Amino acid sequence: MRLKDRVAIVTGAGSGIGAASALAMAREGARVLVVDINDAAVKKTVEQIEKAGGQAAGARADVTRAADNQSIVEQAVARWGRLDVFFANAGVPQWKTDIEDVEEKTFDQIFAVNVKGVWLGAKYALPVMKKQRRGVYLITSSTSAIRPRPGGQTYAASKGAVVTLTKALALEAAPHGVRVVAIAPVATHTPMLPTFMNKVEVDEEGLRQYIATVPLGRLNEPQDLANTAVFLASDDAAMITGSCVEVDGGRCI
Ligand SMILES: NC(=O)c1ccc[n+]([C@@H]2O[C@H](COP(=O)([O-])OP(=O)(O)OC[C@H]3O[C@@H](n4cnc5c(N)ncnc54)[C@H](O)[C@@H]3O)[C@@H](O)[C@H]2O)c1
Repeated sequence: MRLKDRVAIVTGAGSGIGAASALAMAREGARVLVVDINDAAVKKTVEQIEKAGGQAAGARADVTRAADNQSIVEQAVARWGRLDVFFANAGVPQWKTDIEDVEEKTFDQIFAVNVKGVWLGAKYALPVMKKQRRGVYLITSSTSAIRPRPGGQTYAASKGAVVTLTKALALEAAPHGVRVVAIAPVATHTPMLPTFMNKVEVDEEGLRQYIATVPLGRLNEPQDLANTAVFLASDDAAMITGSCVEVDGGRCI
């Protein structure tokens, strides 16, 4: 078990990549605080972990709120005495829209969740990890940070911002034995996928177009990212910090 007795917080863990990662971390022996803005989704993931014999607790939190970030860090430490992994994964997508038609409130919402949410998580998690002289702060970025697609400028900019944040935080945290790493998934089969395709539901045409842009010839499954998150959270990745790890079947080449 690669995360035996570690304590992990996963945000956006009610669905998709976050849910798969919370399950995978629990399978590897971590005690996981499952965090999402959607209460029912939190309960579902906690139940799945417990059913599989893992240890988890749930917390509804909005990552855009400072008090919620502070509270989830405090809950994990109060319950399990430490915090080894914080996976800042919650995010929101963007409908394909040219810049002249993007509303200012769309920018504010995307940056509130995808950038401020990640920044706030770090603000409260890193002091705990620095004090322990151990910890890993993981961030879900996107291949759009490196190789954007037309009409996704606002989302791409938010995901680029957290790659730079990753590098800056990694330098701050390194003298304290703490690592900070970003993960950049290509299109992944989660409820978010149709939005990127500008469709209500994923269809053959959308899939064909997207798959054609991935040299390995398929999209990610949430498990592809969960496997990466477990590896990066574990001591197997002890020399990886400040990196943005592309999980993209070659999309960014
Ligand atoms: N699916 C893809 O194609 C893809 C590709 C690259 C990157 N990503 C990124 O992966 C991450 C996970 O997305 P996913 O694909 O699993 O999508 P998803 O929609 O399945 O899951 C996102 C989860 O985040 C939660 N969430 C949204 N706003 C929140 C907030 N303010 N506070 C707390 N929780 C909140 C949602 O309730 C949801 O459960 C996101 O950061 C997303 O931008 C996704």
